[in-house]
Amino acid sequence: MKQAFQKYIPFAPLKMEQRKWPNQQITQAPVWCSVDLRDGNQALVDPMNVQEKLELFHTLVDTGVKEIEVGFPSASETEYEFLRALIDGGHIPEDVTIQVLVQARPHLIQKTFEAIDGAKHVIFHFYNSTSTLQRKVVFKTDMDGVIKIAVDAAKLIYELSQPAIAKGMDLRYEYSPESFMGTEMDNAVEICAQVLDALHATEDKKVVLNLPTTVENCLPNYFADEIEYFVSKLPGRERAVISLHPHNDRGTGVATAELGLLAGAERIEATLFGNGERTGNVDMVTLALNMYTQGIDPKLDFSDMNKIREVYERVTKMKVGPRQPYAGELVFTAFSGSHQDAINKGTQYMEQTNSPYWEIPYLPIDPADLGRQYEPIVRINSQSGKGGAAFVMHTNFGFDLPKAMQPEFGYIVQKETERIGTELKPERIYQLFKEEYLDAQTPYQLIRHSFMESTGEDLSNPHVVFKGTLRHKDTVFEVEGEGNGPIDAFFNAIHGQKMDRFTFVDYKEHAVTKGSDSMAVAYIQLRDAKGKTIFGVGMSHNINLAPLKGILSAINRSVSSK
Ligand code: KIV
Ligand code: ZN
Repeated sequence: MKQAFQKYIPFAPLKMEQRKWPNQQITQAPVWCSVDLRDGNQALVDPMNVQEKLELFHTLVDTGVKEIEVGFPSASETEYEFLRALIDGGHIPEDVTIQVLVQARPHLIQKTFEAIDGAKHVIFHFYNSTSTLQRKVVFKTDMDGVIKIAVDAAKLIYELSQPAIAKGMDLRYEYSPESFMGTEMDNAVEICAQVLDALHATEDKKVVLNLPTTVENCLPNYFADEIEYFVSKLPGRERAVISLHPHNDRGTGVATAELGLLAGAERIEATLFGNGERTGNVDMVTLALNMYTQGIDPKLDFSDMNKIREVYERVTKMKVGPRQPYAGELVFTAFSGSHQDAINKGTQYMEQTNSPYWEIPYLPIDPADLGRQYEPIVRINSQSGKGGAAFVMHTNFGFDLPKAMQPEFGYIVQKETERIGTELKPERIYQLFKEEYLDAQTPYQLIRHSFMESTGEDLSNPHVVFKGTLRHKDTVFEVEGEGNGPIDAFFNAIHGQKMDRFTFVDYKEHAVTKGSDSMAVAYIQLRDAKGKTIFGVGMSHNINLAPLKGILSAINRSVSSK
């Protein structure tokens, strides 16, 4: 590639002395127009059939899109058939406008009028290409020739639309100077102004001027400059709805759309998940949810993202990538230890403060808002830290491991991920926990026991007497002790036994399942004679017994590790 870059002509940005758009903010949703069934469909290896188009149409309607470009009815029989099926089958809701696309050519315009017969709300969208490159290479004409094509088409469309309008059709017009981005801006203004005149546009009968980045070939800020310039120079700007139609050749379709909105656009043509010619059209999902996460109502409903994705993938036979913003399989998953830790802390913060705001690091949106609350946010592989395994134990199984214990268990989990070299599923993490702590039942075992509890007046001075039968390998022995609680009584009972080289450090207990069948789990932290810390875990329906099992679990783990 060393020298080849020299054959590319860099984009020539507009010379702008001043620009207003950098100081603007997006404060409301644009008018959305879906071009999935046209631009998106044109880009498919296997274009959708009528049934598939219908299903996607209904999905778009359910999402709240009110303007939907349904096809290019003059281009193929399937496109024509689909439009007729939509109209004749009564599939178009009262508040939805269908849009049809046609090249600025008389016989195609004629055919398109036949295709929309009987529809209630229609945007009649026509286009011709205006860029310097297209004029030179494709049409071999000058700007006057290009303007004539557009204006002649506009006049014909205006004329042919009158009978339909007279019969009650709510018909609006849209014009696209295709390849707008590569057109000299004064030429773009000139052609659009003449088209507005030919269509008799007024403030009450606005015409959509759709300004595409047919091939995205410059930075989004240069495009925003073009939009600001265009809007400021357009005569009778109030006669137009300024619409954008960004493609994504440089991977900046979303930024182009967003900066274009800052520069004065009010409508966006987009597709679900960014399907479209080459690298796609701008992704409606990302754009809308970017607004949503800024506290702006996008006026689109993606609360069942998995369903939308499923329909999209099935009918288009395209795949949503695992890292696709907001929709990809992995976008709510943290493998990295520090991310898991921060998510864990953020979750706790939200629970503790009852914050009305979403304040969880590494999660720009609440997965529940997209119907994705049941997917694992934290997944465990060798990159995961100590908090990750604890998070999985908490969210999947209801175990609240004490902070001091998390590194110990995290290490056990990490060793296993390194051993197997892949992700550990939550069930396997629980199994490791069980094997390591709950199943540590030898060599010391409690065979039977009793507690006798008493208190003084007003429940003061609690007193517990513990009697137990323990087994150590083949030896069975009796112990007895008393104290101010079950743990104290137990430790006093094992005094003088080999086990008494362990000292008690800390414990935590909580219920694991709710309702009558709840189990208590006790986490016990002991220290051995050399000062080494060891943890044990015990579970029981009896809250006094769980800690004793936890103590024996810790002792057994210590003895066995030696
Ligand atoms: O990308 C484009 O320029 C188009 C036009 C037809 C609007 O799809
Ligand atoms: Zn396009």
